[in-house]
Amino acid sequence: MAENLVPKGLDGVAVDVTSIATTDNSGNLLYRGYRAIDLADRKSFEEVAHLILFGKLPSADESAKFREFLKKNSALGGRIPEIMKIEKQTNLMDSLRSYVSLEPYRNSEAGLLLAEIASKFPQIISSSARINEGKAPLHSIDGSYAENLYYLLTEKNNPRYARFFEKLLILYMEHEFNASTFALRVAASTLTDPVSAIVAAISTLKGPLHGGANSEVLTYLLSFKSEEEALKFVEEKLQRKEKIMGFGHRVYKEKDPRAQFVKIELKKLIGNTDVYRYATAIEEYIWEKKKLPANLDFYAALYLKTLGIDEKFYLPIFACSRVFGWGAHYLEQQADNKIIRPLSVYTGPTGLTLE
Ligand code: COA
Repeated sequence: MAENLVPKGLDGVAVDVTSIATTDNSGNLLYRGYRAIDLADRKSFEEVAHLILFGKLPSADESAKFREFLKKNSALGGRIPEIMKIEKQTNLMDSLRSYVSLEPYRNSEAGLLLAEIASKFPQIISSSARINEGKAPLHSIDGSYAENLYYLLTEKNNPRYARFFEKLLILYMEHEFNASTFALRVAASTLTDPVSAIVAAISTLKGPLHGGANSEVLTYLLSFKSEEEALKFVEEKLQRKEKIMGFGHRVYKEKDPRAQFVKIELKKLIGNTDVYRYATAIEEYIWEKKKLPANLDFYAALYLKTLGIDEKFYLPIFACSRVFGWGAHYLEQQADNKIIRPLSVYTGPTGLTLE
C-alpha cells in the first residue's frame, strides 16, 4: 500500500531544529530551557513572552519597557471598530483572522511588528464580541497583560483571578511544532510577511483537533449529575470509538505537565467539589481503560469557567498567548531559512488521454 510509505500526520517525524521549546526526557515542557510550569508559577506573562519571543528573560527594566510597548500598541487603529459594526462575525476566531489582516501596523522591524500584532489580540477579541452583542468596546486598563485581558473579557478588575488566569496563559504560550506553529513556519519559509504568517496560524488553531477542544470539554463536564453518569458517558464514547475532547496528545503519552499544573491550581479555586471529582474520575478512568492522558484543554475549560470567563473566549484566549510563540517561530524560521516543500506519494492515475 502506497499509504504505508508516508508518515501520516508527520507522526514521529522531526522536520527542523528549534531552540524555543521542547519536552525533556522526564516529560517536562521547557521554554528556552526553563520548565514552563516553573515560569507559570513564578514569572509574569510579559517576562515569559519576552523570553519566548526574544530568547532571554528580561531585566526589570526590559520587562517594564516590554509591558509598556504591549500596552501602548494595544488599541485598534484605522477603521476596524467601524468595520466590526458592519461586518458582524459570530465566530471570534474568524474576527481575529480578519482584523489581524486589516490592522494598520506601525512597526516594520519583524520582532517589533510581531509583538505589535500580538498586543492587539485582546482588543480585537473583546471589541468584536461586545459589538456583536450591541455593547460599546471597553478601554484597556492600566494593568499587566493578563489583568487587562481578564478585564476586557469579564469587565471585572480582579487581580487574584487575573493571576490565576496569567498562569494558564503562560502554559498556552508555546509548544514547538504544533499544527498552528507548523502552518506558520511553512508560511514564514516562503518569506511572506509576519501578518500573513500569523493569519495562517490563526486559521489552523481554529480546528477542533487543535485549539477547539476546551469548550467541548466544558459542555460534557457540566452536564453530569453524578460520578456514575460521568463514567457511563466516557465508557459509551470509548465503546463507540469516538474521540473524547481533552484527552490524548501527539507528544505527551503519559502525562501532560501543563494539565497536571492546572489541575492543582483548579483545586485551589474550587476545592473537592462535585465537578472537580467528576473530572478527576474521568481522567483516571480513561487512563485505566485506554492509557490516554488528560491534555491541557481538559482542565483549562473548567478553570476558565471558574474564573468567570465566557466559553466563547476560550479558543481566542489560547490565541492571545500562543501568538508570542508563533512570533518566535517566525523569527527562528527566517533566521535560518529553507523553504518547506515536502514530497508526496502519488496514488492517482497516470497516462490518461483526452478524447
Ligand atoms: N478519545 C478517545 N480515543 C482517543 C483520543 C481521545 N481523545 N485521542 C486518541 N485516541 C485514540 C485514537 O482513536 C487511537 O486509537 P486506536 O489506536 O485504537 O486507533 C489512539 O488513541 C491514538 O490516537 P491518534 O489520534 O492516532 O493520536 P494523534 O497523536 O494522531 O492525535 C490528538 C492527537 C490530540 C489529535 C488526539 O488525541 C485527539 O483528537 N484528542 C481530542 C482532541 C483534543 O483534546 N485536542 C486538544 C489537543 S491539546
